[in-house]
Amino acid sequence: MATTPAFNPPTRVLMGPGPSGANPRVIRAMAAPILGHLDPEFTRIMDNCRTMLRQVLRTENTLTLATPGTGTSGMEAAVMNLVEPGDKVVVGVAGYFADRICQMAERAGGVVTRVTAPWGSPVDPEQMRQAIRAAGKVKLVAVVHAETSTGVQTPVAPIAAIAHEAGALMLADCVTSLGGVPVEADGWGVDAIYSGTQKCLSAPPGLSPLTMSARAADAIRARETPCNSWYLDLGLLEAYWDDRRSYHHTAPISMIYALHEALALVLEEGLEERWARHERNGRALQLGLEAMGLVLHADEGYRLPVLTTVRIPEGVADAEVRGALLKRNSMEIGGGLGDLRGKVWRIGLMGESSTPGNVFLFLSSLAKILREQGYAADGRAALSAASARIAAG
Ligand SMILES: Cc1ncc(COP(=O)(O)O)c(C=O)c1O
Repeated sequence: MATTPAFNPPTRVLMGPGPSGANPRVIRAMAAPILGHLDPEFTRIMDNCRTMLRQVLRTENTLTLATPGTGTSGMEAAVMNLVEPGDKVVVGVAGYFADRICQMAERAGGVVTRVTAPWGSPVDPEQMRQAIRAAGKVKLVAVVHAETSTGVQTPVAPIAAIAHEAGALMLADCVTSLGGVPVEADGWGVDAIYSGTQKCLSAPPGLSPLTMSARAADAIRARETPCNSWYLDLGLLEAYWDDRRSYHHTAPISMIYALHEALALVLEEGLEERWARHERNGRALQLGLEAMGLVLHADEGYRLPVLTTVRIPEGVADAEVRGALLKRNSMEIGGGLGDLRGKVWRIGLMGESSTPGNVFLFLSSLAKILREQGYAADGRAALSAASARIAAG
């Protein structure tokens, strides 16, 4: 008999920028029997996913589905379908992921204007307005709602209003926000949103929920050139997700099961209650970090509760701290990305991972490791600040 490699993934406390921990109900759903991708029982599950997705995204949009692939697939689907060669695109760039949108829009042949903001601040609506005016006849305006690289939240509604005044479509990346902080597709007047399963929805990575307004769907139908991506052509994808059930790809069956259960869990908890839980735990973590003596990186008033960036104190070894958390506590946090590499830690409290227990465990573990590194972290003050915030509800 052949000897095969051991397979023992450990249980981690996932407090990085994603993936987050998945609920056991989601994991169990993935062990359900595989159905054919056109089996009526399976397409009923797809329909339920669409209905629940609309509720979680707060939209009535017909064109609502999940693209096969991680969050980047939703980003690529949105950009490739909405941008044609020569189209003008204005993107608010205040972090790593907005730059990825620009790169994709350029690959689609778009003429891109980047409106930049420091990595730690939100995108400025007035600068967006000026750039949109200067560009003239803009087709698409895009921002990242929750920048996972910086921990900053950019309010989308004011920028959507500016885009619409100029006759442009509005796209928002809600990969890190959906299911954790308020996302109101229709309320904000956004034309396109994509997200990911592995952040605040707490399913494994592998699908990207996506919704498009009627205006965006019309713009896709009115394209002069076919979408540059065949796999992510929303016209073709929709013909599989709607009643036509026209074969396009073999759906990732078990991931659709996972999405189904993850969405059901969100709705059973209640969206408002879920947002409040993320807010409470996130603010408790941030108050705890400050009480410990550390400095939060993101601008006050725009800090995401689901992803906190904290500056690494002078003289503290980034990799050693993260390594010790992983080795001793089986706890993952993220290092800085792009411009913030080596400068900040990124601590996620998303979905299942957003618990008071994780906040306390992280704060006490970090304080101990920092003290070993020669930084006088006040662990007691951190825990008492965090528990006071949690007790306040
Ligand atoms: C804001 C944002 N957009 C897009 C992505 C890309 O998603 P994925 O890594 O699932 O492809 C991420 C991933 O972290 C993200 O945080």
